[in-house]
Amino acid sequence: MLKLKEAEKIFEDYICQTYGKRRLVLSYGSGLYIFDTENKKYLDFLSGLAVSSMGHNHPKIVKALNEQAQKLIHCSNLYFNEPQSRLAKNLIEQKMPGYKLFFCNSGAEANEAAIKLTRKFTNNPEKSKIITFKNSFHGRTMATITATGQTKYNESFKPLLPIFEYADFNDINSVKRLIDKNTAAVMLELIQCEGGVNISSKKFIQELSELCSANKLLLILDEVQTGAGRTGKFFCFEHYNIKPDIVTLAKGIAAGVPMGIMFAKKEIADAFKPGDHASTFGGNPLACAAALEVLKFLNDKNLQKIYELGEYFKTEILSLKNPLIKEARGLGLMIGIELNKKIADDIQLECEKSGLLINSIHNEVLRIAPPLIVKKSEIDKALKIIETALKKY
Ligand SMILES: Cc1ncc(COP(=O)(O)O)c(C=O)c1O
Repeated sequence: MLKLKEAEKIFEDYICQTYGKRRLVLSYGSGLYIFDTENKKYLDFLSGLAVSSMGHNHPKIVKALNEQAQKLIHCSNLYFNEPQSRLAKNLIEQKMPGYKLFFCNSGAEANEAAIKLTRKFTNNPEKSKIITFKNSFHGRTMATITATGQTKYNESFKPLLPIFEYADFNDINSVKRLIDKNTAAVMLELIQCEGGVNISSKKFIQELSELCSANKLLLILDEVQTGAGRTGKFFCFEHYNIKPDIVTLAKGIAAGVPMGIMFAKKEIADAFKPGDHASTFGGNPLACAAALEVLKFLNDKNLQKIYELGEYFKTEILSLKNPLIKEARGLGLMIGIELNKKIADDIQLECEKSGLLINSIHNEVLRIAPPLIVKKSEIDKALKIIETALKKY
């Protein structure tokens, strides 16, 4: 059994040092719980960064993966495969009529596809500017770190792509100031999750959507973290009554099997021609088999439940009336608890010691993103642990 010390040594000696200190070696999971190699049990309220949407080892996901693995694990995109075709049909017919999609393997790749498609659709090298937002997060490839409006992620990698400019989140005038004849698109997260669970206002998104239409700019939504049911709708944009031109999805869509998807309105998607874009693993049969199960789970009844559980969590955490809690915000099961003091790292650690996994952002906000199958009783357990941790400060 791998011990922490051995894992640390392997990491130090053999793996690029891109990750900070880690304290746990996780081994197996069941439902909302995950266990380390010492058999210590953790209530998982982070879902592997909003990925394990069906919890751990969900029997339907395990069955779908087992059955598919016995048939076909990989199939290049030189050929069709059944789960990929079925998933595309179900996604488009049930969730995105009028759109087409491109399958890839991660959030950054889905955003890359969106950036490339924008360039191809616009078909004018002069008109290549994309407005993104300060404090955003769009991934780690060269294009997506440049799209990301946080210098800590991109300043060591200059020269960056010269096509992105950053507006202030929720400030329509700052977007207006950046629009010129070279602007092709505006790209944003409706909730800046990595940025601290900052929610865009309905007024701002309505105005932004109108501004994009008036100026013939593509509206690209990065729903890598907010999509696939996380906010209590299949897509977060359904809370806003808008119709984006391009939407990206990843994280929770295949319950932990790597998958990214870019959706674009048909007339935009058709700008991509054979050879313009591709992915060896994109639309992999295993990932698609898992995603088909996630899609079945995300029916209207379960989506409503996800939304209500999120409201329940926020109400209950505020009812603790702990003076350290400044605000509880979020939609569905993407929740941020903002603290009055920079102690979120310590609270995360205290919770971990007491068997709860949550995540500190900027040492100020606690990010709560449990699997979408969470029950009220498990939320109550998590709240107790957070309450006890806060009381120590
Ligand atoms: C909004 C958003 N976009 C893009 C990404 C990048 O996704 P990936 O790490 O799968 O490339 C993330 C990852 O956290 C994200 O939250």
